[in-house]
This record gives sequence, C-alpha cells and structure tokens, in this order.
Amino acid sequence: WKRVTKLSVSVNIHAWLLINGLPKCLTLCDPVADIGQEEDFEAAKEKALKIGASSVHVVDLSKEFVEKLCYPAIQCNAIYENVYLLGTSLARPVIARGQIAVAEKEGCTLVSHGCTGKGNDQVRFELAFYALKPDIRVIAPWRLPEFYNRFAGRNDLLSYAAEVGVPVSQTKAKPWSMDENLAHCSYEAGILEDPDETAPKDLWKLTIDPLDAPDIPEDFTIHFEKGLPSKLEYEGGKVVTEPLDLFLVANAIARRHGIGRIDIVENRFIGLKSRGCYETPGLTILRSAHVDLEGLVLDKEIRALRDQFVTFNYSKILYNGLYFSPEREFLEDSIASSQKTVNGKVRCRAYKGSLIILGRSSETSKLYDMAESSMDEIGTSFAPVDTTGFISVQAIRLKKQVHTFSIENLN
Ligand code: ARG
Ligand code: SIN
Repeated sequence: WKRVTKLSVSVNIHAWLLINGLPKCLTLCDPVADIGQEEDFEAAKEKALKIGASSVHVVDLSKEFVEKLCYPAIQCNAIYENVYLLGTSLARPVIARGQIAVAEKEGCTLVSHGCTGKGNDQVRFELAFYALKPDIRVIAPWRLPEFYNRFAGRNDLLSYAAEVGVPVSQTKAKPWSMDENLAHCSYEAGILEDPDETAPKDLWKLTIDPLDAPDIPEDFTIHFEKGLPSKLEYEGGKVVTEPLDLFLVANAIARRHGIGRIDIVENRFIGLKSRGCYETPGLTILRSAHVDLEGLVLDKEIRALRDQFVTFNYSKILYNGLYFSPEREFLEDSIASSQKTVNGKVRCRAYKGSLIILGRSSETSKLYDMAESSMDEIGTSFAPVDTTGFISVQAIRLKKQVHTFSIENLN
C-alpha cells in the first residue's frame, strides 16, 4: 500500500486496519500532503515506511493552494457564519486532487482518510475523490464498525499508538484535532468541546498572543489587481509579488502581531454543532485589506449582489465540500467579473492583534470623487435641490405608515 501524506493519529488506524484484514491484492493510498504546514516530512516518510508503506510521496501543493484556493477566497471575501475564513475547507480540494493523482500513478484502487464520521472533512475529501475519479473506492476507518467498536475515539487511539510504539504528536493533555496548512491552523476536541472553556494560552501554534505582541506597530502596503493581491511592500522598501511569497510575508507579519485568531461554535454540514479555535494570520490581513479597497472602487449594486449571492454561496460550497462542482465554477466566473475595477492599494498597520487601515487609493477607479462627496463643496454632478426630490419620492410610502408608529417611544 502507498502513502501520500499525513501522519496524524489516523495513520495508526490505517496501519491497524491493514494489518487486520485488508485483502493483500488491494492497494491503498492514504493522505499527507505538503500544503505549507510546519511538519517534518522526512520523519513522516520514515514513519510511513516503518508501518508498511510500499512507497511514499510527499507532494508540495502550497503554490496551487494559494493561487487556486486562497486567492479566489480573498477576491470574494469568503467567510462562513461571519467568522470562519475556511482555512481547512480551502485545503481539502487541493489535497484530494494530489491524493487521486498519486493513486492514479501508483495504480491504487482504494484511497483512505482519517476523518471522523461526524465532521465536514469526510464529506469534502470523498466528494472530491468521486468527482475526480468516479470508480475510486474509499476507506474511512472511523466509519467502519470493526474499527469504532474497538476505538471509541481519539483517546482510545492514543493509548493504542502508545501500546504499539507508533509516535504521534498529540498527547492526552494536548489532544487537539489539528489541521494545519499554509493559511491556517485549527484546533478542536479535548476541553474545547465545552464551548465555555477558554482555549489555553499554549494551544495556539502560529500566532503570538496579542497580549505579548510587540509595542511597536508594523506598517505595510498591499496592492490589488482585479481583486487579487499583486504586491506587498513591507519593512520600509521590501517588495514581494509572487502569490506564494506574498502570502508567506503576510503570514509572517500577522503571526508576529497576533492577528487572525478566532473562536467559533459553527454548524457543520451534517447538522452537528462544533466548537473550534482557528488562526488564519495572512489570510485575515489580505481579506480585510481587500474588503477595504472594495469600499473605494466597487460599484454599489455589484457589491450588494455579490455579497448576497456570491460570497455567501461560494463560502457555503467550499465549506460543504462541493469544490468540484459546476456551481463553484459558475460562481468563480462571477467573482472574476465583479472584480474588474478592484485595483489599488491599501496602507495597513499591524498592532497587537489588530489590522488597522491607514488609507487606500486607486489610480484607475473614478467611482470616488472627492469634490462630489465633499461636505465643503457643492460639486457639479447634481444640485442639492435634486436630493430634496429624491427624499420626497422615497417618503411616499412611508407617510402612509404614520399610524403604525408612536412618537412617544420606539415601539
Ligand atoms: N470545523 C472546521 C471545518 O470544518 C475545521 C475542521 C478541522 N479539521 C480537522 N481535521 N481538525 O472546516
Ligand atoms: C473530523 O471530524 O475528522 C474533523 C473535523 C471535521 O471534519 O469537521
């Protein structure tokens, strides 16, 4: 059997499963991709070979992840349930594609993953597998009775790993189900399952605690072309333009100033609620700067339609694992079309957990006209008296509601 990737607790399960009955004629491809997470891939390879893999591929998918998933997400301000920037969801299509590519290369008839039967990731991986290779067969150990009758959950599995001497990074004190990639790290499980339990200080891996962040703010400028980050100027004169490099610099700035932590109780696709703590440093900065620039350069009605239909549905599609779908392609076309005028730059400051906007400008957009908007000038595009008519017309229907409201209070 072959491994592509990730050595989390799940790996041990796969080993167990293989040892305990997978027919020898079948070959299995099990995931660990290099998607920019801080992980010792040499150790991962060694571990895979030690537990019986016939070959190990660790494929670097970081560039594809940033360019094909993170950039469109920035371009449409993707967000789930008002807070989650979809850091895990964005990585899944890329990992699944990488896994299927290796499965094809190696002639594997089966692929597997270590997701539980309660989450979103199982749906995301499997829908992607089936969209890319309809005849693939999937092994999801956590959903097999012969597996879950022996291991009720992560705790049992940690004991098993210790028993058979398979090294894993999780401990009973820090048992987090973590998912890390270039854009984000998530933490679930353990004491976090009590939604009122505050995440311990030592949980966070990517960002400094905002309370410990430097007293000196850091200023930088993000440029956008058609809604995509095109240049980042930082440290008084340094410049990056390549998406992956730019993303890494945004990450470094946000990480050292403690930007991008969230804590959420969210609704999973299958209907369960779950509590997670996520840190998404660079993506938080890039998305916020993009949101800001749109204020200056995006047409009012395009913005409203995009917010109502595109951002909401694109985020939902990604969250629910429907990346490889015609609706995702359709919405990406709309995103690109909405962003033709989103060109310009945003001057930013990182300071103690916050991104502060210092100013924004665009050389190409004429939507914001200083004279027209000024409170100090009359302007030439319309006369003040025109607005009197505008208000009179807006008031026609409201005047008919006069009896429904009280002037004594706001009932
Ligand atoms: N709840 C988030 C999501 O569904 C994060 C999932 C993290 N995955 C994990 N295997 N720990 O996108
Ligand atoms: C899991 O259940 O395997 C992780 C969390 C999720 O997929 O939502």
